[in-house]
Amino acid sequence: MGRHYYIAGNWKMHKTRTESAELAQALVTELKDGKHEYLVAPSFTNLETVSAIVEGTNIRLGAQNCACEEQGAHTGEVSVLQLKDLGVQTIIIGHSERRHTYKEDDALINKKVKLALKHGFEVILCIGELLEEREAGKVEEVCERQTVKGLEGVSAEDLANVVIAYEPVWAIGTGKTATPQDAEAVHAFVRKVIARLYGNEAAQKLIIQYGGSVKPDNAAQLMAMENIDGALVGGASLKTDTFVPIAKFS
Ligand code: 13P
Repeated sequence: MGRHYYIAGNWKMHKTRTESAELAQALVTELKDGKHEYLVAPSFTNLETVSAIVEGTNIRLGAQNCACEEQGAHTGEVSVLQLKDLGVQTIIIGHSERRHTYKEDDALINKKVKLALKHGFEVILCIGELLEEREAGKVEEVCERQTVKGLEGVSAEDLANVVIAYEPVWAIGTGKTATPQDAEAVHAFVRKVIARLYGNEAAQKLIIQYGGSVKPDNAAQLMAMENIDGALVGGASLKTDTFVPIAKFS
């Protein structure tokens, strides 16, 4: 199939510069023989520091968000041009905390996705349902909408730079993980949506990460599922003790 595993750490709003540097340095050492693809996404303020540490290694540098405009009067926002300047390669867009706490809608997320792709970034587009949406039987409806609207206007060529992260909101930071079977069902469904939009070959190549309380003791079971191609890890990515075993799952 040609897909590989891609394990990413989303550090969210954690760590000072010194702490980020320590973790990044430790990961460079621990993961240098790692067999999968890796990424760390520190806070904006720590990107420059971490960039110098991961440059030229097998760990990619990610940002957790970007503005939907290139530049201008947008107080408090960070532009793709500024991220590129720091060596950022990947941008996480549409994280559930952006969607639900900061009220980002599908149209805004789509604008960011297109802008980031235009500037040559890899995009990790996050999708996932709320608990009440799951309980109401709307998992597929929500994930399909977020996928289709998030990728509106994205060319087949640009899709090669897109990764989708399925993060059921009820599993994020709660210690509740989707069962491998439940996650697999959504991943397979999302791949079908992509096949409908971009064809089967593109869908087979697409990397779909799972996120939501991924820990060392559940990573391998999740990764064993056919359509789960990696992980977007929050809490467990903040320490080498927990991130390295996930990153080196076998
Ligand atoms: P946790 O791993 O802490 O549940 O967070 C998942 C996540 O939101 C990664 O983006």
